Amino acid sequence: MGTDSAIAIDVRHLTVSYQSRPALLDVTVAVERDQLVGVIGPNGAGKSTFIKAVLGFVKPDLGTVAINGQPAQKAKGQVAYVPQRGAVDWDFPITVREVALMGRYQQIPWYRNPGHRDRQAALEALEMVRMQDFADRQIGELSGGQQQRVFLARALSQGSDILLLDEPFAGVDAATERAILDVLERAKKSGKTLVVVHHDLSTAAEYFDKLILIKQRLYAYGRPGEVLREDLLSRVYEGRLRIFSDIVHREERP
Ligand SMILES: Nc1ncnc2c1ncn2[C@@H]1O[C@H](COP(=O)(O)OP(=O)(O)OP(=O)(O)O)[C@@H](O)[C@H]1O
Ligand SMILES: [Mg+2]
Repeated sequence: MGTDSAIAIDVRHLTVSYQSRPALLDVTVAVERDQLVGVIGPNGAGKSTFIKAVLGFVKPDLGTVAINGQPAQKAKGQVAYVPQRGAVDWDFPITVREVALMGRYQQIPWYRNPGHRDRQAALEALEMVRMQDFADRQIGELSGGQQQRVFLARALSQGSDILLLDEPFAGVDAATERAILDVLERAKKSGKTLVVVHHDLSTAAEYFDKLILIKQRLYAYGRPGEVLREDLLSRVYEGRLRIFSDIVHREERP
């Protein structure tokens, strides 16, 4: 296992199956530090599975995941996660402040309650996503875009170097999308590595330094211009390529 300090997430030959049906096959990707990386691919391509495997939530059949040069099992707490919206029970009775504080729980020993520093970190994270004024509201009372920002705050309060986000822009309006992107860019500037599942190919080149294109297998990994190529997209998205011709062309312009 390499200990190259420039690599934040080192995935090698990753194969993950559900009931012996492979969702990911032999995926090898090394994500460098301080990058904003997008994961693209059609529905069912294995994007969420990829994120969950990096987190250690699903067990690989084959292959390895290393975080900051260490096996993923030893790196718990170094990776923060914003789940796909559908995976969260939004009726759970909990305030915005408490959700942000949940990001701290991994650092708090079982015998101690959250302290001042934890509360401060949670509040700062809410400020970063501009949700501090909603701190005492129930999470279930917020709009989808506001809930998404609170979940981003939960991940930020953890203070991890690495953030994994599963479709943070799904179902939010254009202004919220901008606000979330702005937070991600600031997090990157402050030295974080971000891996973001994203389904809108029309903004992928603008938002990300690099793209991971998967559909069970890794089809491409590199700069947006290297990944958003017509031949690759037509193989991965099959018949639906026509709507992407626009994106491919835009990429080719100087
Ligand atoms: N818990 C599970 N049990 C069984 N099969 C699963 C499970 N989770 C995912 N799968 C299957 O694995 C494949 C990859 O799913 P995954 O959720 O990783 O795709 P995705 O790219 O995130 O899709 P989407 O764009 O719809 O979110 C799919 O065929 C899916 O049906
Ligand atoms: Mg998914």
